[in-house]
Amino acid sequence: MRRPIIAGNWKMHKGPDETIAFLDELLPRVSNIEDREVVIAPPFVSLITAARRLRGSRVKLSAQNCHWENRGAFTGEVSPSMLLEAGCTYVIIGHSERRQLFGETNQSVNRRVLGALAAGLIPILCIGENLEERKAKHTLAVVERQLRKSLEDVEADDAETLVVAYEPVWAIGTGISASAEQAQEVHFFIRQFFEKQYNKTLANSIKILYGGSVKEDNVDELMAQPDIDGTLVGGASLKAAEFERIVRFMEPNAS
Ligand code: PGA
Repeated sequence: MRRPIIAGNWKMHKGPDETIAFLDELLPRVSNIEDREVVIAPPFVSLITAARRLRGSRVKLSAQNCHWENRGAFTGEVSPSMLLEAGCTYVIIGHSERRQLFGETNQSVNRRVLGALAAGLIPILCIGENLEERKAKHTLAVVERQLRKSLEDVEADDAETLVVAYEPVWAIGTGISASAEQAQEVHFFIRQFFEKQYNKTLANSIKILYGGSVKEDNVDELMAQPDIDGTLVGGASLKAAEFERIVRFMEPNAS
């Protein structure tokens, strides 16, 4: 079965000091959780601090982006092997904010995915349509194109390790989440894509997260969908109590 992943994308929030304060609060709250994976994605400068504080805990670390080369004259970039050395297990790639604000394309996303996989990081590949595309009923075509282009030259051995995050752009940071049905429809489509592109076993094992205004009051419904294997949480991951509640989705005693 697919063990759920709840990942907190901190975006440009929390330097090293705030990271420590947050983890001091979060770690005791989630220390007994084994049936789901908890991941935090702090900014680059806070990764080492977080990695040290996470020693001995099951919480995993993710970066929010990486370059495709491991070294070289790429001012301002951080390489996959550096992230691995810093203690990361995952790296978010192709987040819509990177695509919209920093010129990321399916082609550069593809290079980053290949670089991350080659270094031994697990990419959390973000895809999703914008509002116009949804209104024009192009959602599935957009998602398929993003997947096809982002996964060019990714062999089955590598594809089976990666995580996909379906994040409709119109739902990110807006407070308007996709409904559970809307998300499930796309997640099912994504799983079918992996079956067509690779094989059924891979499609059944690949983890597909939903992201976009996930909160304590909608996480249970989203996670009840058969093809939603976890969530990528932005705003609601910044407060330990709120994030804990999301991590504890569908637990009988979660308040
Ligand atoms: P949000 O962000 O939860 O604040 O909508 C999600 C994301 O951008 O990954």
